[in-house]
Amino acid sequence: MSLASPRVVNIKDLRRLARARLPDAVFDYLDGAADDEVTLKDSEKAFKEVLFKPRFAVATPACDLGVTVLGHKLDVPFMLGPIGYSRLMHPRGELAASAAAGRHGTAYILSTMSGHRIEDVKAQSSGPTFYQLYLAGGRGAAEGAIARAKAAGYKALFVTIDTPVAGNRERDVRNGMKELMGANPFKKLPYVPNILMHPRWLAAFIADSMTRPFPNIVVPGSGPLAAIDVAAALESAQVSWTDLKWIREAWDGPIVMKGVMTVDDAKRSVDHGAEGIVVSTHAGRQLDGCAASLRVLPGILEAVGDKTEVIFDGGIRRGADVVRAMAMGAKAVLLGRGYAYGMAAAGDAGIERAIEIFKADIVRTLKLLGCTSMSQLNSSYIAMRPGFRVD
Ligand SMILES: Cc1cc2nc3c(=O)[nH]c(=O)nc-3n(C[C@H](O)[C@H](O)[C@H](O)COP(=O)(O)O)c2cc1C
Repeated sequence: MSLASPRVVNIKDLRRLARARLPDAVFDYLDGAADDEVTLKDSEKAFKEVLFKPRFAVATPACDLGVTVLGHKLDVPFMLGPIGYSRLMHPRGELAASAAAGRHGTAYILSTMSGHRIEDVKAQSSGPTFYQLYLAGGRGAAEGAIARAKAAGYKALFVTIDTPVAGNRERDVRNGMKELMGANPFKKLPYVPNILMHPRWLAAFIADSMTRPFPNIVVPGSGPLAAIDVAAALESAQVSWTDLKWIREAWDGPIVMKGVMTVDDAKRSVDHGAEGIVVSTHAGRQLDGCAASLRVLPGILEAVGDKTEVIFDGGIRRGADVVRAMAMGAKAVLLGRGYAYGMAAAGDAGIERAIEIFKADIVRTLKLLGCTSMSQLNSSYIAMRPGFRVD
């Protein structure tokens, strides 16, 4: 399958290919969000309210896209964010994402909900690899994963704080995600016809031994957690600020709090010694009705931007979106669906195409703005429409 232009010009094209390859249950798991998906829609809309202010007639022969995050020099201002169940979208899932991040000189953040082992994912990349932590499975399981991540050479821990309970993702309910993950074959039957209509995905899924337990959530005494038990496991092991004490003892590298949406939580993260935060709505998949993360970014940067590294994610579908968030003052951004659509469409080749598209877009946007590097960007290159900001 060709992923070249003009078949694949932008990330929307990769989304279209992902939709064609995946059964509805898997596509909607990737594409969907919580409740009425208000926050998801606002995440993409907010970028349109940040307007560029270019300086023309500036020579920009080459552009330096490099940034430094948590002491690591990255060749591009984006990292590949944690996407749970990546292996369900494509058998290579997390392995492909890690390899792509390494090839492009950036970091990959592996989700706790990975289908591949911590060690195998790390082995795919010589670049920095970070681990995203949920406490699903309890403290024992988390300590086991932290020890393995440390031994494998992961360099930072991203503690996700916005998931005390799984969001209400109605597309997943309608598509029978729970039934499909469960053991009862009769309950799966209504959803089988749609799966059969996606033979390329199905053949790869069967060859990959179908649904398997999570290899990095190993509950002491009972082994790897089954996918069907994840929602309950998340709810029974909610992270709180007091957990940071033992997490800090178990992990000696930098800690980044992921899912910060208020100045309050940003300041609390700083008070707890977090080396970084990710301003994020979890792709609109948790509390629907939050503002787009881009709208709260300016206030959070003003409050803690000089005290901790502020990373941004949510709704990035173009390189120009990366440039907007960086001009606001983000240290770097995470791509979520922006690369996952490519992964779901075509594994390694799909992620590669997504990254190519983002890089070309960023370079073009910088040149059009009259900038030669990420470090030159600042808020004088953008203006926000009235009413944009939420404090
Ligand atoms: C299918 C899917 C699975 C995700 N899984 C996780 C996860 O396991 N842990 C986590 O911290 N964030 C997870 N996220 C959130 C992403 O890391 C990131 O914050 C978000 O996707 C950014 O928004 P965007 O997809 O609009 O770019 C997930 C997002 C999606 C779309």
